[in-house]
Amino acid sequence: MLIEKHRSVCLRDVNLTLPKSATPAQQELAQGMVRVNHLYRSALKVAVAQLEILDEEFASMYDHSPIHHIEYRIKSLDSIIGKLQRRNLEVNIDNIYAHIHDVAGVRVICNYLDDIYYMRRLLTRTESFGIIRETDYIKEPKPSGYRSLHLILDVPIVISEGTLHLPVEVQLRTIAMDMWASLEHELRYKSDRNFSESDAARLQLCSEAISEIDREMQNIYLGNSPEYDL
Ligand code: GTP
Ligand code: MG
Repeated sequence: MLIEKHRSVCLRDVNLTLPKSATPAQQELAQGMVRVNHLYRSALKVAVAQLEILDEEFASMYDHSPIHHIEYRIKSLDSIIGKLQRRNLEVNIDNIYAHIHDVAGVRVICNYLDDIYYMRRLLTRTESFGIIRETDYIKEPKPSGYRSLHLILDVPIVISEGTLHLPVEVQLRTIAMDMWASLEHELRYKSDRNFSESDAARLQLCSEAISEIDREMQNIYLGNSPEYDL
């Protein structure tokens, strides 16, 4: 199952949202953003298609699908601007290409813990994608309790001018880790209630409990599954 979280932006949308008083620099940024959107959407499609192909191949060989579902999104212009500003970088198109690695983001929700590492191995075994950066928050969870494997992949896309390489952020996690991350984000940032230190500590404990469940589910599955030749 594929879930696209936002729809694409076109020049018309950008023109509609630009104020009449927009400066030439703002207009240039807006138009550059339409291209950014198009290019990163293309990279996103390539990455998602490759993930699906690998998942299907795995399923056909081992009668087990490592991926439960995939979510993907292009970062909104507001979030991109916010991130550049937080890093004290000038808001322009060059800085987006140079410094924002998660314009294209894919979340791969896997069934079992080991599936995350099978997918990582399969993804990076092909010559198609290089790894720009890898952070394993499963082996070393964040202090919040956040767990996932983060990869920044170098994804080539073929466009009319030739081949272009773009970064795509891939977050791989289990269903349980995804449940924790979604609710933690909701509790910490979205709800109106105060988020206390005690809430943070309890969420950290939930993360450990979930990790234990992931391991146990994996062991139950391993007791009944064939060996994979990976
Ligand atoms: P960013 O500027 O946020 O991209 O930081 P970064 O480039 O250092 O990336 P990091 O490895 O911290 O991962 C960023 C992404 O991981 C976020 O956009 C979230 O999707 C997810 N993430 C990281 N930490 C947490 C956390 O504590 N809770 C939740 N729910 N998600 C997290
Ligand atoms: Mg990020």
